[in-house]
Amino acid sequence: MTTLFSSYKLRDITFKNRIAVSPMSQYRARSGFADDWQLVHLGRFAMGGAALVYTEATAVEADGRRTHGDLGLWNDDQITKLKQITDFISREGSIPGIQLSHAGRKASERRPWHGEKPVSDEDVAHRDEAPWQCIGPSAISYAEGWPVPQQMSEADIQRVVASFGEAARRSYDAGFKIIEVYAAHGFLIHQFLSPLANQRLDHWGGNAENRNRFAVEVAKSIRANWPDEYPLAFRLSATDWLDGGIEPADTVETAKALKAVGVDMIDCSTGGIGGRERPRRMVIEQGFQVPFAAQVKTDADIATMAVGFLWDAPVMEDILKTGQADMIALARELLDDPNWPHHAAASLGQDDGFDRWPVESGWWLNKRKRLVDKLGLR
Ligand SMILES: Cc1cc2nc3c(=O)[nH]c(=O)nc-3n(C[C@H](O)[C@H](O)[C@H](O)COP(=O)(O)O)c2cc1C
Repeated sequence: MTTLFSSYKLRDITFKNRIAVSPMSQYRARSGFADDWQLVHLGRFAMGGAALVYTEATAVEADGRRTHGDLGLWNDDQITKLKQITDFISREGSIPGIQLSHAGRKASERRPWHGEKPVSDEDVAHRDEAPWQCIGPSAISYAEGWPVPQQMSEADIQRVVASFGEAARRSYDAGFKIIEVYAAHGFLIHQFLSPLANQRLDHWGGNAENRNRFAVEVAKSIRANWPDEYPLAFRLSATDWLDGGIEPADTVETAKALKAVGVDMIDCSTGGIGGRERPRRMVIEQGFQVPFAAQVKTDADIATMAVGFLWDAPVMEDILKTGQADMIALARELLDDPNWPHHAAASLGQDDGFDRWPVESGWWLNKRKRLVDKLGLR
Protein backbone atom coordinates (compact mmCIF):
# COMPACT_ATOMS: atom_id res chain seq x y z
CA MET A 1 0.00 0.00 0.00
CA THR A 2 1.39 3.39 -0.94
CA THR A 3 1.13 6.27 1.50
CA LEU A 4 -0.36 8.51 -1.21
CA PHE A 5 -3.33 6.15 -1.43
CA SER A 6 -3.64 5.37 2.26
CA SER A 7 -6.47 7.01 4.20
CA TYR A 8 -5.92 9.85 6.62
CA LYS A 9 -8.06 11.06 9.50
CA LEU A 10 -8.38 14.53 11.01
CA ARG A 11 -10.85 14.76 13.91
CA ASP A 12 -13.83 12.62 12.75
CA ILE A 13 -13.25 13.10 9.03
CA THR A 14 -11.48 10.38 7.03
CA PHE A 15 -9.91 11.21 3.66
CA LYS A 16 -9.69 8.15 1.40
CA ASN A 17 -6.22 9.16 0.16
CA ARG A 18 -3.79 12.05 0.61
CA ILE A 19 -4.68 14.08 -2.48
CA ALA A 20 -6.47 17.41 -2.11
CA VAL A 21 -7.72 19.76 -4.79
CA SER A 22 -6.01 23.04 -3.97
CA PRO A 23 -8.34 26.06 -3.97
CA MET A 24 -8.66 27.52 -7.47
CA SER A 25 -10.51 30.78 -8.03
CA GLN A 26 -12.70 30.70 -11.10
CA TYR A 27 -13.73 34.39 -11.00
CA ARG A 28 -17.04 33.31 -12.45
CA ALA A 29 -19.48 33.83 -9.61
CA ARG A 30 -22.21 36.46 -9.89
CA SER A 31 -22.63 38.58 -6.74
CA GLY A 32 -20.79 35.78 -4.93
CA PHE A 33 -23.24 33.05 -5.99
CA ALA A 34 -22.01 29.68 -7.27
CA ASP A 35 -23.74 28.15 -10.27
CA ASP A 36 -23.40 25.07 -12.48
CA TRP A 37 -19.85 26.10 -13.40
CA GLN A 38 -18.60 25.39 -9.86
CA LEU A 39 -20.70 22.21 -9.71
CA VAL A 40 -19.01 20.81 -12.83
CA HIS A 41 -15.55 22.27 -12.08
CA LEU A 42 -15.45 20.76 -8.58
CA GLY A 43 -17.55 17.70 -9.35
CA ARG A 44 -15.09 16.42 -11.94
CA PHE A 45 -12.30 16.34 -9.32
CA ALA A 46 -14.46 14.17 -7.06
CA MET A 47 -15.07 11.83 -10.01
CA GLY A 48 -11.32 11.92 -10.66
CA GLY A 49 -10.52 10.43 -7.26
CA ALA A 50 -9.18 13.31 -5.12
CA ALA A 51 -9.95 12.70 -1.45
CA LEU A 52 -10.53 16.36 -0.56
CA VAL A 53 -12.09 18.90 -2.89
CA TYR A 54 -11.66 22.49 -1.76
CA THR A 55 -13.69 25.32 -3.24
CA GLU A 56 -11.95 28.40 -4.48
CA ALA A 57 -11.38 31.37 -2.13
CA THR A 58 -14.85 32.23 -0.82
CA ALA A 59 -15.35 35.70 0.59
CA VAL A 60 -16.85 36.19 4.04
CA GLU A 61 -18.09 39.66 3.15
CA ALA A 62 -18.87 41.28 -0.20
CA ASP A 63 -16.06 43.83 0.08
CA GLY A 64 -13.64 41.00 0.91
CA ARG A 65 -13.82 39.64 -2.63
CA ARG A 66 -10.71 39.97 -4.69
CA THR A 67 -12.64 40.43 -7.92
CA HIS A 68 -16.24 40.92 -8.96
CA GLY A 69 -16.23 37.22 -9.94
CA ASP A 70 -15.24 35.80 -6.53
CA LEU A 71 -17.39 33.27 -4.75
CA GLY A 72 -18.99 34.39 -1.48
CA LEU A 73 -20.75 33.08 1.58
CA TRP A 74 -21.85 36.26 3.31
CA ASN A 75 -25.55 35.54 3.16
CA ASP A 76 -27.79 32.52 3.66
CA ASP A 77 -29.10 32.57 0.09
CA GLN A 78 -25.61 31.62 -1.09
CA ILE A 79 -25.89 28.27 0.73
CA THR A 80 -28.36 26.54 -1.62
CA LYS A 81 -26.12 26.02 -4.65
CA LEU A 82 -23.11 25.16 -2.52
CA LYS A 83 -25.21 22.45 -0.82
CA GLN A 84 -25.92 20.89 -4.20
CA ILE A 85 -22.17 20.88 -4.91
CA THR A 86 -21.21 19.33 -1.54
CA ASP A 87 -23.94 16.68 -1.96
CA PHE A 88 -22.45 15.69 -5.30
CA ILE A 89 -18.86 15.60 -4.00
CA SER A 90 -19.90 13.55 -0.95
CA ARG A 91 -21.90 11.07 -3.05
CA GLU A 92 -18.79 10.45 -5.16
CA GLY A 93 -16.81 9.56 -2.01
CA SER A 94 -14.77 12.74 -1.55
CA ILE A 95 -14.77 15.26 1.30
CA PRO A 96 -16.03 18.74 0.38
CA GLY A 97 -13.97 21.56 1.86
CA ILE A 98 -14.32 25.32 1.65
CA GLN A 99 -11.66 28.01 1.63
CA LEU A 100 -12.85 31.12 3.48
CA SER A 101 -11.18 34.38 2.62
CA HIS A 102 -11.01 38.13 2.83
CA ALA A 103 -8.82 39.92 0.31
CA GLY A 104 -8.16 43.03 2.42
CA ARG A 105 -5.95 45.44 0.45
CA LYS A 106 -5.97 43.02 -2.51
CA ALA A 107 -9.71 43.53 -3.00
CA SER A 108 -11.15 45.36 -6.01
CA GLU A 109 -8.83 43.71 -8.51
CA ARG A 110 -9.57 42.71 -12.10
CA ARG A 111 -9.89 39.06 -13.11
CA PRO A 112 -6.43 37.85 -14.20
CA TRP A 113 -7.38 37.73 -17.89
CA HIS A 114 -8.60 41.34 -17.75
CA GLY A 115 -5.11 42.39 -16.63
CA GLU A 116 -3.78 41.89 -13.13
CA LYS A 117 -4.56 45.43 -12.03
CA PRO A 118 -6.98 47.21 -9.69
CA VAL A 119 -10.53 47.72 -10.99
CA SER A 120 -10.87 51.19 -12.49
CA ASP A 121 -13.36 53.36 -14.36
CA GLU A 122 -12.44 51.41 -17.51
CA ASP A 123 -14.12 48.36 -15.96
CA VAL A 124 -17.27 50.39 -15.41
CA ALA A 125 -17.30 51.20 -19.11
CA HIS A 126 -16.45 47.65 -20.30
CA ARG A 127 -18.24 45.46 -17.79
CA ASP A 128 -20.34 47.71 -15.59
CA GLU A 129 -18.06 46.75 -12.67
CA ALA A 130 -17.10 49.55 -10.30
CA PRO A 131 -14.09 49.71 -7.98
CA TRP A 132 -14.63 49.66 -4.23
CA GLN A 133 -12.66 50.86 -1.21
CA CYS A 134 -10.37 48.14 0.16
CA ILE A 135 -9.27 47.79 3.78
CA GLY A 136 -6.12 46.53 5.48
CA PRO A 137 -4.26 46.51 8.78
CA SER A 138 -2.32 49.64 7.76
CA ALA A 139 -2.67 52.25 5.04
CA ILE A 140 0.05 50.62 2.90
CA SER A 141 -0.74 49.62 -0.65
CA TYR A 142 -0.04 46.16 -2.08
CA ALA A 143 2.36 47.56 -4.67
CA GLU A 144 3.02 50.70 -6.64
CA GLY A 145 -0.07 51.74 -8.57
CA TRP A 146 -2.41 49.87 -6.23
CA PRO A 147 -4.93 51.71 -4.04
CA VAL A 148 -4.05 52.60 -0.47
CA PRO A 149 -6.33 50.58 1.83
CA GLN A 150 -8.30 52.20 4.58
CA GLN A 151 -6.72 51.24 7.89
CA MET A 152 -9.15 48.99 9.74
CA SER A 153 -10.73 50.36 12.90
CA GLU A 154 -11.33 48.18 15.93
CA ALA A 155 -14.97 47.88 14.78
CA ASP A 156 -13.84 46.77 11.30
CA ILE A 157 -11.61 44.11 12.84
CA GLN A 158 -14.39 42.79 15.08
CA ARG A 159 -16.84 42.76 12.14
CA VAL A 160 -14.51 40.75 9.89
CA VAL A 161 -13.65 38.30 12.70
CA ALA A 162 -17.38 37.76 13.26
CA SER A 163 -18.01 37.37 9.54
CA PHE A 164 -15.57 34.41 9.42
CA GLY A 165 -17.62 32.80 12.21
CA GLU A 166 -20.89 33.42 10.39
CA ALA A 167 -19.45 32.00 7.18
CA ALA A 168 -18.34 28.91 9.14
CA ARG A 169 -21.91 28.37 10.33
CA ARG A 170 -23.11 28.70 6.72
CA SER A 171 -20.36 26.33 5.57
CA TYR A 172 -21.75 23.73 7.95
CA ASP A 173 -25.28 24.30 6.63
CA ALA A 174 -23.91 23.97 3.09
CA GLY A 175 -22.51 20.51 3.88
CA PHE A 176 -18.77 21.21 4.01
CA LYS A 177 -16.68 18.94 6.26
CA ILE A 178 -13.45 20.93 6.50
CA ILE A 179 -12.66 24.66 6.37
CA GLU A 180 -9.38 26.12 5.18
CA VAL A 181 -8.80 29.77 6.07
CA TYR A 182 -6.95 31.73 3.41
CA ALA A 183 -4.15 33.35 5.41
CA ALA A 184 -1.56 33.31 2.61
CA HIS A 185 -0.70 35.01 -0.70
CA GLY A 186 -1.12 38.55 0.59
CA PHE A 187 -4.76 38.26 1.57
CA LEU A 188 -6.11 40.06 4.65
CA ILE A 189 -4.96 37.63 7.35
CA HIS A 190 -1.51 37.39 5.77
CA GLN A 191 -1.46 41.21 5.74
CA PHE A 192 -1.90 41.17 9.53
CA LEU A 193 0.80 38.48 9.94
CA SER A 194 3.46 40.20 7.85
CA PRO A 195 5.40 43.21 9.17
CA LEU A 196 5.62 44.38 5.56
CA ALA A 197 1.87 45.10 5.52
CA ASN A 198 1.11 45.52 9.22
CA GLN A 199 2.66 48.53 10.91
CA ARG A 200 -0.02 49.05 13.53
CA LEU A 201 0.94 50.38 16.93
CA ASP A 202 -2.00 48.85 18.82
CA HIS A 203 -2.40 45.25 20.00
CA TRP A 204 -3.00 44.06 16.41
CA GLY A 205 0.51 44.97 15.25
CA GLY A 206 4.14 45.17 16.31
CA ASN A 207 5.45 42.01 17.92
CA ALA A 208 4.71 38.50 16.61
CA GLU A 209 2.03 37.80 19.21
CA ASN A 210 0.15 40.94 18.19
CA ARG A 211 0.48 40.23 14.46
CA ASN A 212 -0.77 36.67 15.03
CA ARG A 213 -3.76 37.94 17.01
CA PHE A 214 -6.08 38.52 14.04
CA ALA A 215 -5.48 34.98 12.69
CA VAL A 216 -6.01 33.54 16.16
CA GLU A 217 -9.26 35.50 16.66
CA VAL A 218 -10.51 34.33 13.25
CA ALA A 219 -9.75 30.72 14.21
CA LYS A 220 -11.59 31.15 17.52
CA SER A 221 -14.57 32.74 15.79
CA ILE A 222 -14.75 29.81 13.36
CA ARG A 223 -14.30 27.17 16.04
CA ALA A 224 -17.25 28.69 17.96
CA ASN A 225 -19.43 28.07 14.89
CA TRP A 226 -17.96 24.83 13.56
CA PRO A 227 -18.41 21.33 14.98
CA ASP A 228 -15.61 19.88 17.12
CA GLU A 229 -15.80 16.76 14.94
CA TYR A 230 -14.78 18.69 11.81
CA PRO A 231 -11.23 19.81 11.02
CA LEU A 232 -10.05 23.38 10.55
CA ALA A 233 -6.99 24.20 8.43
CA PHE A 234 -5.10 27.41 7.67
CA ARG A 235 -3.18 28.19 4.48
CA LEU A 236 -0.12 30.25 5.40
CA SER A 237 2.66 31.80 3.37
CA ALA A 238 5.53 30.21 5.27
CA THR A 239 7.91 32.89 4.01
CA ASP A 240 7.48 36.26 2.31
CA TRP A 241 10.82 35.66 0.52
CA LEU A 242 11.56 39.33 1.32
CA ASP A 243 13.85 40.96 3.84
CA GLY A 244 11.85 42.25 6.78
CA GLY A 245 8.97 39.90 6.05
CA ILE A 246 7.77 36.59 7.46
CA GLU A 247 10.43 33.90 7.82
CA PRO A 248 9.74 30.17 8.36
CA ALA A 249 10.52 30.41 12.09
CA ASP A 250 7.72 33.02 12.41
CA THR A 251 5.33 30.65 10.66
CA VAL A 252 6.18 27.90 13.13
CA GLU A 253 5.13 30.25 15.94
CA THR A 254 1.93 31.20 14.09
CA ALA A 255 1.16 27.51 13.61
CA LYS A 256 1.66 26.83 17.32
CA ALA A 257 -0.68 29.72 18.23
CA LEU A 258 -3.31 28.43 15.79
CA LYS A 259 -2.98 24.86 17.03
CA ALA A 260 -3.67 26.08 20.56
CA VAL A 261 -7.10 27.38 19.47
CA GLY A 262 -8.22 24.31 17.53
CA VAL A 263 -6.53 24.46 14.12
CA ASP A 264 -5.61 20.99 12.85
CA MET A 265 -3.56 21.41 9.71
CA ILE A 266 -1.34 24.01 8.02
CA ASP A 267 -1.31 24.18 4.23
CA CYS A 268 2.19 25.54 3.54
CA SER A 269 2.43 27.91 0.61
CA THR A 270 4.66 30.98 0.27
CA GLY A 271 4.85 34.54 -1.01
CA GLY A 272 2.32 37.03 -2.33
CA ILE A 273 2.65 39.90 0.12
CA GLY A 274 4.15 42.57 -2.11
CA GLY A 275 3.35 42.93 -5.78
CA ARG A 276 3.50 40.60 -8.74
CA GLU A 277 7.25 40.43 -9.21
CA ARG A 278 8.91 37.20 -8.09
CA PRO A 279 11.26 37.96 -5.16
CA ARG A 280 14.90 37.20 -5.91
CA ARG A 281 15.15 34.75 -3.00
CA MET A 282 12.34 32.61 -4.45
CA VAL A 283 13.80 29.75 -6.50
CA ILE A 284 11.16 27.56 -8.10
CA GLU A 285 11.60 23.82 -8.72
CA GLN A 286 9.38 20.80 -8.22
CA GLY A 287 8.29 20.71 -4.58
CA PHE A 288 10.17 23.89 -3.63
CA GLN A 289 7.71 24.65 -0.80
CA VAL A 290 7.86 21.16 0.73
CA PRO A 291 10.70 22.01 3.18
CA PHE A 292 8.37 24.54 4.82
CA ALA A 293 5.66 21.91 5.32
CA ALA A 294 8.33 19.66 6.85
CA GLN A 295 9.61 22.38 9.18
CA VAL A 296 6.15 23.41 10.38
CA LYS A 297 5.16 19.76 10.88
CA THR A 298 8.22 19.02 13.02
CA ASP A 299 8.66 22.27 14.91
CA ALA A 300 4.99 23.10 15.56
CA ASP A 301 3.90 19.45 15.85
CA ILE A 302 0.89 19.92 13.60
CA ALA A 303 -0.32 18.16 10.44
CA THR A 304 0.74 19.83 7.20
CA MET A 305 -0.26 19.90 3.58
CA ALA A 306 2.44 20.36 0.94
CA VAL A 307 1.61 22.34 -2.19
CA GLY A 308 3.17 23.96 -5.22
CA PHE A 309 4.86 22.71 -8.39
CA LEU A 310 4.18 19.05 -7.69
CA TRP A 311 3.34 16.63 -10.49
CA ASP A 312 5.20 13.34 -10.05
CA ALA A 313 3.44 10.70 -7.99
CA PRO A 314 6.72 9.08 -6.79
CA VAL A 315 7.90 12.49 -5.53
CA MET A 316 4.65 12.89 -3.56
CA GLU A 317 4.96 9.35 -2.22
CA ASP A 318 8.44 10.19 -0.97
CA ILE A 319 7.26 13.43 0.69
CA LEU A 320 4.59 11.54 2.60
CA LYS A 321 6.71 8.48 3.41
CA THR A 322 9.53 10.57 4.81
CA GLY A 323 7.07 12.43 7.03
CA GLN A 324 7.50 15.87 5.46
CA ALA A 325 3.73 16.37 5.09
CA ASP A 326 0.46 14.54 5.69
CA MET A 327 -1.41 15.56 2.57
CA ILE A 328 -0.60 16.93 -0.89
CA ALA A 329 -2.57 19.70 -2.59
CA LEU A 330 -2.57 19.94 -6.37
CA ALA A 331 -3.94 22.76 -8.49
CA ARG A 332 -2.68 22.99 -12.09
CA GLU A 333 -1.89 19.28 -12.44
CA LEU A 334 -5.57 18.58 -11.74
CA LEU A 335 -6.70 21.31 -14.11
CA ASP A 336 -4.64 19.55 -16.76
CA ASP A 337 -6.02 16.14 -15.82
CA PRO A 338 -8.88 15.89 -13.31
CA ASN A 339 -8.43 12.08 -13.41
CA TRP A 340 -4.82 12.42 -12.24
CA PRO A 341 -5.42 10.52 -8.95
CA HIS A 342 -6.76 7.50 -10.83
CA HIS A 343 -3.80 7.53 -13.21
CA ALA A 344 -1.36 7.99 -10.30
CA ALA A 345 -2.86 4.98 -8.51
CA ALA A 346 -2.22 2.90 -11.61
CA SER A 347 1.31 4.26 -12.11
CA LEU A 348 2.22 3.44 -8.49
CA GLY A 349 0.94 -0.09 -8.96
CA GLN A 350 -1.98 0.55 -6.67
CA ASP A 351 -4.53 -0.50 -9.22
CA ASP A 352 -4.00 -2.66 -12.31
CA GLY A 353 -7.37 -1.81 -13.81
CA PHE A 354 -10.02 0.85 -13.53
CA ASP A 355 -11.74 -0.33 -10.36
CA ARG A 356 -11.22 3.03 -8.59
CA TRP A 357 -13.05 4.93 -11.31
CA PRO A 358 -16.77 5.65 -11.11
CA VAL A 359 -18.31 2.41 -12.35
CA GLU A 360 -20.01 4.23 -15.23
CA SER A 361 -16.54 4.76 -16.74
CA GLY A 362 -14.55 2.03 -15.01
CA TRP A 363 -16.70 -0.85 -16.24
CA TRP A 364 -16.12 0.15 -19.88
CA LEU A 365 -12.46 0.91 -19.44
CA ASN A 366 -11.89 -2.48 -17.78
CA LYS A 367 -13.77 -4.21 -20.59
CA ARG A 368 -11.72 -2.44 -23.25
CA LYS A 369 -8.50 -3.24 -21.39
CA ARG A 370 -9.34 -6.96 -21.31
CA LEU A 371 -10.07 -6.95 -25.03
CA VAL A 372 -6.99 -4.90 -25.93
CA ASP A 373 -4.80 -7.20 -23.79
CA LYS A 374 -6.35 -10.31 -25.32
CA LEU A 375 -5.78 -9.06 -28.85
CA GLY A 376 -2.34 -7.72 -27.99
CA LEU A 377 -3.21 -4.35 -29.45
CA ARG A 378 -1.30 -2.16 -26.95
C1 LIG B 1 -6.60 28.86 -11.50
C2 LIG B 1 -5.98 29.04 -10.15
C3 LIG B 1 -6.67 29.71 -9.15
C4 LIG B 1 -6.13 29.79 -7.85
N1 LIG B 1 -6.90 30.33 -6.84
C5 LIG B 1 -6.49 30.17 -5.55
C6 LIG B 1 -7.37 30.45 -4.48
O1 LIG B 1 -8.55 30.81 -4.66
N2 LIG B 1 -6.90 30.29 -3.23
C7 LIG B 1 -5.62 29.84 -2.96
O2 LIG B 1 -5.26 29.68 -1.81
N3 LIG B 1 -4.77 29.59 -3.98
C8 LIG B 1 -5.19 29.70 -5.24
N4 LIG B 1 -4.37 29.31 -6.27
C9 LIG B 1 -3.06 28.71 -5.95
C10 LIG B 1 -3.18 27.17 -5.87
O3 LIG B 1 -4.09 26.74 -4.89
C11 LIG B 1 -1.82 26.51 -5.63
O4 LIG B 1 -1.36 26.86 -4.36
C12 LIG B 1 -0.78 26.94 -6.68
O5 LIG B 1 -1.34 26.91 -7.98
C13 LIG B 1 0.43 26.01 -6.64
O6 LIG B 1 0.04 24.67 -6.86
P1 LIG B 1 0.21 23.94 -8.31
O7 LIG B 1 1.66 24.05 -8.68
O8 LIG B 1 -0.22 22.51 -8.03
O9 LIG B 1 -0.67 24.62 -9.28
C14 LIG B 1 -4.85 29.25 -7.58
C15 LIG B 1 -4.13 28.64 -8.62
C16 LIG B 1 -4.69 28.51 -9.88
C17 LIG B 1 -3.89 27.79 -10.94
